[in-house]
Parts: sequence; C-alpha cells; structure tokens
Amino acid sequence: MDEGLLWWQRGIIYQIYPRSFQDSSGDGIGNLRGILQRLDYLESLQIDAIWLSPIYRSPMADFGYDVADYTAIDPIFGTMDDFDRLLDAVHRRGMKLVMDLIPNHTSDQHAWFIESRSSRDSAKRDWYIWRDPAPDGGPPNNWLSMFGGPAWTLDEHTGQYYLHQFARQQPELNYRNPEVLRAMLDVLRFWFDKGIDGFRIDVIWLLLKDEDLRDEPLNPTWDGIQPHAQFEHIYTQNLPGVHDLIRALRRVTDEYENRVLIGEIYLPVEDLVTYYGDEDEVHLPFNFQLVELDWKAPVIREAIAAYERSLPERAWPNWVLGNHDRHRIATRAGAAQARAANMLLLTLRGTPTTYYGEEIGMENVPIPLALMQDPPALNQPEMAHVVGRDPVRTPMQWDDSPNAGFTHPDATPWLPLAADYETRNVARQDAEPASMLNLYRALTALRCQEPALYRGAYQAVEAGVDDVLAYLRTADGHARFLVVLNLGSSQHTLDLSAAGSTAQIAIASDLLRAGNVDLAHLALGPDEGLVLRLD
Ligand code: NOJ
Repeated sequence: MDEGLLWWQRGIIYQIYPRSFQDSSGDGIGNLRGILQRLDYLESLQIDAIWLSPIYRSPMADFGYDVADYTAIDPIFGTMDDFDRLLDAVHRRGMKLVMDLIPNHTSDQHAWFIESRSSRDSAKRDWYIWRDPAPDGGPPNNWLSMFGGPAWTLDEHTGQYYLHQFARQQPELNYRNPEVLRAMLDVLRFWFDKGIDGFRIDVIWLLLKDEDLRDEPLNPTWDGIQPHAQFEHIYTQNLPGVHDLIRALRRVTDEYENRVLIGEIYLPVEDLVTYYGDEDEVHLPFNFQLVELDWKAPVIREAIAAYERSLPERAWPNWVLGNHDRHRIATRAGAAQARAANMLLLTLRGTPTTYYGEEIGMENVPIPLALMQDPPALNQPEMAHVVGRDPVRTPMQWDDSPNAGFTHPDATPWLPLAADYETRNVARQDAEPASMLNLYRALTALRCQEPALYRGAYQAVEAGVDDVLAYLRTADGHARFLVVLNLGSSQHTLDLSAAGSTAQIAIASDLLRAGNVDLAHLALGPDEGLVLRLD
C-alpha cells in the first residue's frame, strides 16, 4: 500500500514543545500526561509522528536543552512511567514518537560536568573543552556565544575556561575524546531499546570545533544586529570531521528497525545536503528555507528549485514552516498568509514538519520584559525583542475558558496566553467548517490519500505573475495536482492553460470555493491558495 515508502517519508511530523502543549497537574507547565490527554486531537490532524522537544532531567536554564541526565524524565514533565504510557498510547494509535537528542552540550549540573570541573586531573576533564586563559587572563579566543557574550566561562576553582556556544550552563562536550561518543551512543541505545522511533538531533553541525581553537574571522557582510553574526563561524560549525560522528550515530540507529534521525542544521542548501552522507548520515537534514527566507514568491520559488537541484539521488526531501526558535509563520508572513503557507508546506515534495499551534494560525505573543524567560533575551535585554524566543512558545490555545484549557483555570501559565485565545482556539475552529484547523485537516487528509502529493514529482509552473507560486505534483497512473498560491495581497487572473484546460478545486484556502475552474482565466484572490485536481 505504501509503495515501499518508510513512515518518515510518507508521514507528517508534528512538533510539541512540552512545556506549552497541555498541563494536567495545575502547575502551569505542560507535561506528558497532558500530551496523553490530547492524542485524540493529534490523531484528528492525521499527523504521523510527534517530535517532543526535550523532556530529560534538566535545571531548565535553556528549558530542557540543558540536560542533566539523558536517561531520566524531568519531574516537571512526569515520570518514566508516564513516558512509557505515552509511548505505548502513541504506538497503539499507529503514530510514532521522536525524541530530541542534545549531544553537543550537557547541563553544568550533569554528573559528567560536575566531575570534569572538579579538578584538572579529573578522569572526565577531557570530556569537555577546557583551555587556559589568554595571556591577559581573558577567554582563550574570540568565539562568541549565540546567547550573548563570549563562548567561554572561567571556572575560578581550576583556573581554566570551558566552552559553551549557548548559555554558560550548557558546557560543550569534547567529541575528540572517543569516550564521549561512546557515552552518547549508549544514550541512543537506551531510548531505541525502549522503542522510540527516532531522534531530532540538536545543533548537529556544531558537534566538532577546531582543534587549535583559532580565532574566527570577521564577517564582511555582518548586518550589525546579532553580535554572534559578526564572525564567520568557520572554526565552530560544519567542520569536515563532524560527518564521522554522525555516521557513528547512524550505525547505532541502523541496528534497530525503521528508526529515523533528523538533524537540526542551519546551513546553505549545498552544505545542508552533505548531511545525508552516502545514505549513512541523517535521514532528514532539516530544511529550514521556509523558516529563514523572506516570504516572497520569487525567493521561495528559487529556494525550492535550488533544493530540488541539490538533493542527492535517493535523498528524501523535507520542509519546515516553524519551530520553537523562529517567529511563527502567521507573524512572519502575516495572518492572511498563514493558510497559503500551510498549503505550501503540505503540498511540497518531502516530509512536512508542523510546529504546534500553526494549524490554528497562532501568532507570536509579545512578552513584557518582566515575564521573559528565554536566556538569549535575558542575557541581552537591549535586544530581547529581537532574540527572545518566548513569543513562539506560549500555551496552546485549546478553548475560550480561562487559561485556554491549557492548564487549570486558577493556575498561572509559565508564559502568558495570546490575547486572542478566546477567538482563536481549537474548540472554536473545530466547530467552524471553514476554519484554518479544518483547512489543515483537509490538506493532511488529501496528502495522505494522494500518491502525487506524498510521493510524486514536483515541477514548477510559470504563472506569469511575480506574487504567485504554481507547481505540479504528479505520480504515474494517479491524479495530478496543480497548486497555485498567491503570496501577495493583490488579485490576479492567471493563464495556466499550459497545465490543462479545466481543473477541479480539491481544496481552496477559504474552504468555500468549489467546483471547476477555467485554467486559461483563473481568478486568484489576495492570499488565496488552490489545490487543483487535473484529472
Ligand atoms: C537549538 C535548539 O532548537 C534551541 O532551542 C536551543 O536553545 C539550542 N539548540 C541549544 O541547545
């Protein structure tokens, strides 16, 4: 039935940020039992796999991306029993569960780091990256943290600096020491043995750094905004040796059946695709072009073409529209574009990943400085509104009750709710036939059924108008689809007769327009998208 496709090729991935999805305990922070309560909803979306942002034991300096124990669940999220129950329930519904793996750094509270920092002679000293101060007593080189300030913190007790490219509570592991890799491979085995279906691997392209710790050169095209971008990261990112480490992760993964590795990689497409390796690195290097690029049809058209051109033979494509680090699509592209944007995500060639809440058009929520929690914002208050990620991590909007059904009505959610939650929520959109939620469901249902959409070829179509993206999705012997998306706010009449004379509207972005259209005179409203069935 699935023509030999694997679940992560055929399926749709849904990212849950566990703190913000559903709280069952009343402490205002989402947890595993909460997710369990919402499985009916996830099933109704026809998604295939859930990716959970980290739930490991953590002091939460970076909300779980600082791991203190890779094989324990943080009590905020529940117990290992809760996890086992969730995994079992997800599997019984025919869905998959993908965990986050954070191999680049641990928490400074991890037993490995506590031991490493205890003395220069510690058996684990070399598990992290320690260096003597520069002659003036300052950091060993000019490397910067992505969360503000130098990438080095001095440990007074032993008189050396340790490396951290994120918060100072996230010391980086030293993968030049083979014991570190071995320990991390055991973490993979622990979770695969439990039966999880894969990992999304945090900052996988940063795992290795220049052995000589050379200063990074200035970036001649720096925009003067993000301090971290003032250098070219040639000694901290994308080092050739990183591929050997990834191959080791893949070898362990291949000891198990039907598992997936997804890599978080922010690199230009030609570098990104090298992370497929020779089918021996990650299965899906996350393709963040739709997250990073200007929301303009010519830019996106060229990005799709470049990606399609660059993909190695047999490499499976993927697309991401949002995540817990970047502005929500409804904010970036404008609320009116959110429907067309989801139509794009769910009709492109390759595995789509949806960030929770984007199926109802959730927007960034402005967070007052006093309530901000995210370390890059707190470290750089002068640019908190530029670098802070709290606005994209606010509680899921389930209904119009106090606290939106996310937590107990008397609780204080860990981040404030969106001001519009009484009108933008799952319950309301569930009941409105033409809601964005029902558009999302219509798109996932069509994608699941139609071979042209879940495995067919992609071919760009010239629409003759700058604002409009048009493309064909085709699979031999199956219905063909023409997708037409207006990424602008003007109305157009298009001549798409090269693709056929008439077509039937399979899904219109307003879920109202129906019937047949004349492709020689196709009227397309502002921000409108159409999925057209050709035969
Ligand atoms: C990337 C994650 O997506 C982000 O949320 C985190 O802060 C950094 N890696 C550090 O782990």
